[in-house]
Amino acid sequence: MAVSNQRKKILVFRELPPDQLARLQAQHDVTVANPRLAGQLPAFETSLATAEGLIGSSYPVDKALLARAPQLKVISSVSVGVDNYDLKALAARNIMLCHTPGVLTETTADTVFSLVMATSRRIVELANHVREGRWTRNIGEDLFGTDVHGKTLGILGFGRIGQALARRAALGFGMPVLYHSRRPVDLTRQAPELAGKAAHTPLDELLARADIVAAVLPLSDETRNLMGRREFGLMKPGAIFINGGRGATVQESALLEALEQGRLRAAGLDVFATEPLPLTSRLRTHPKVTALPHIGSATVETRHAMAVLATTNLLQALEGELPEAVFDLPA
Ligand code: DGY
Repeated sequence: MAVSNQRKKILVFRELPPDQLARLQAQHDVTVANPRLAGQLPAFETSLATAEGLIGSSYPVDKALLARAPQLKVISSVSVGVDNYDLKALAARNIMLCHTPGVLTETTADTVFSLVMATSRRIVELANHVREGRWTRNIGEDLFGTDVHGKTLGILGFGRIGQALARRAALGFGMPVLYHSRRPVDLTRQAPELAGKAAHTPLDELLARADIVAAVLPLSDETRNLMGRREFGLMKPGAIFINGGRGATVQESALLEALEQGRLRAAGLDVFATEPLPLTSRLRTHPKVTALPHIGSATVETRHAMAVLATTNLLQALEGELPEAVFDLPA
């Protein structure tokens, strides 16, 4: 990437915390324009035409958008997932892509485990029972939940977040863990605390054995629609399905069918094929679904840490240094 000492043009396409915006403004010419807000679209497009760096998240950056950004050298995504970016088009233009792995691992695993707890113990449903004045006598078996401790957890995707989830389950709740990933992880070297506690398992076997299946998969050609009718059909009767990765790894109609047929006990979903979840989606109000508005990493501390890392990545890239977290684009 060509480097000069001049101030560069940066487009911030999703609001940054003031301290991180100030770091960028101290060195570069910064425009803040969020294209999701209709009034800011013209400023976004004008700035895109001259921007050398973009920073933001949750907006599709495709070939057509890149064609309107002829000066672009680097995109710094305030996310770990990179499914919003056309990776081949970025590689073809030699545009660097940075992201924010690591800093959100534990928070996202907390969110996913909270869905395991909420669905198993029917927390939201029973809290509403109280709130709506329906707690007029001791609850009966029809409102009992199921245990979490000791149950078998199947994890789809065993990167940082999958392993953090496994630690919560295996070390905190005595849950046997099965995981499915492209390759087995050498736990003795990479996560010795999980050695002997988490077993690499073929997908079909995992689905058949787990009481709770939690997907924390990134979205790729390989994982798109991975969980369909056949896969939900393989799950244990009465099992629970959780998704904290990407919505499009699941065929939502197949999930709804499995819930409606009574095959699955419940689903806990933080991510959806279309976000925000359309008001017409049956997942929004389904009594067996606990739905969250994609809050995996949404804590004050973690969102700030993500903004710091993304800002650092961008500044380093514009300085011609190797940023802390560069995503490897396809060759
Ligand atoms: C991520 O960082 O990818 C989270 O899902 C938030 O988008």
